[in-house]
Amino acid sequence: MSTGELQTLEAQANDSLAAIADETSLEDWRVNYLGRRSRLTEILRGLSALPLEERKQVGAAANRLREALETALAERRDMLRKRDVQTFIQQGRIDVTLPGRPIPMGRLHPVTQTQRDIVACFEKMGFQAVEGPEVEWDYYNFEALRIPEHHPARDMWDTMWIDYHRDGRMPMLLRTHTSPNQVRVMERQQPPIRVVVPGKCYRYEATDATHEWMLTQVEGLAVDEGISMADLKGTLYEFAQQLFGQERRVRFRCDYFPFVEPGADMSIDCFVCNGEGCSTCKGAGWIEIMGAGMVHPEILANVGYDPERYTGFAFGMGVERVAMLRHDIEDIRLFYQNDLRFLEQF
Ligand code: PHE
Repeated sequence: MSTGELQTLEAQANDSLAAIADETSLEDWRVNYLGRRSRLTEILRGLSALPLEERKQVGAAANRLREALETALAERRDMLRKRDVQTFIQQGRIDVTLPGRPIPMGRLHPVTQTQRDIVACFEKMGFQAVEGPEVEWDYYNFEALRIPEHHPARDMWDTMWIDYHRDGRMPMLLRTHTSPNQVRVMERQQPPIRVVVPGKCYRYEATDATHEWMLTQVEGLAVDEGISMADLKGTLYEFAQQLFGQERRVRFRCDYFPFVEPGADMSIDCFVCNGEGCSTCKGAGWIEIMGAGMVHPEILANVGYDPERYTGFAFGMGVERVAMLRHDIEDIRLFYQNDLRFLEQF
């Protein structure tokens, strides 16, 4: 065994490599010169049987040769691939001008989009967005809003109850509206207050096209000196125009909610028929979009505000309802069925 043999081997390997023009022959070459049964591997395996001096010499030369051949192989492979791509392009077999494959991208749920639009609209008018708990005390959801146990108004807001009591406080429940945050906000800060509170609410409902057992609301509350019903109307009118178009008109009618006095519901004139009467507004020409009113003085007094000095207004709207109107969606249940064919449209 001599280093001379290795030189011959190297020359042979390089000559045949230079002639290789496709990947299959390249693989044959690799098996032949670097594979398990190649002469080079055989030499490397036989090293241990050689006398020390020779082993050192041949060993170093053989290892260097193996590295050299591996590098040459990689370079050749690279060269062949580049050449192939070039030919494909020249022959028009690869069209580099084709658009790339789109990566599927998620997006915001239509209810989230509408919720953000509503909140943004009030933020522009100086309201601040805050949040409150979905699992709520009976106290905030009902009692503090002047809806004591056995009050018939509770029928409007039947809910899921949580089997949990603490310190003799009333039981917990899944909040039926975002209104408990009126009291929560007033308890922790002093007027002036301007907040909107978006969030999920729950009701014990037999579901149908316009009722779900989970819904999203945006609550609003403004308390300050000298706030009147005119402020409420002006603010909500501005909101309706921002969200539904400058030409919208609004209508306020008396309504009853135990926590406001006076109470009202607000409608916008139907933007499909402009008030003529159609299937969207069920012939009425008007579409009801929220409940509102002046914060009941008793509630102001209960949180320690002076009702002679401070007044406020509150409102609450269903976000799904607004989204349904904006996008002409007929069934509220579509929002929570996770059907991409529906969701991808928004
Ligand atoms: N919380 C009421 C509801 O869910 C709406 C409302 C909010 C009414 C604020 C008046 C004032 O129906």
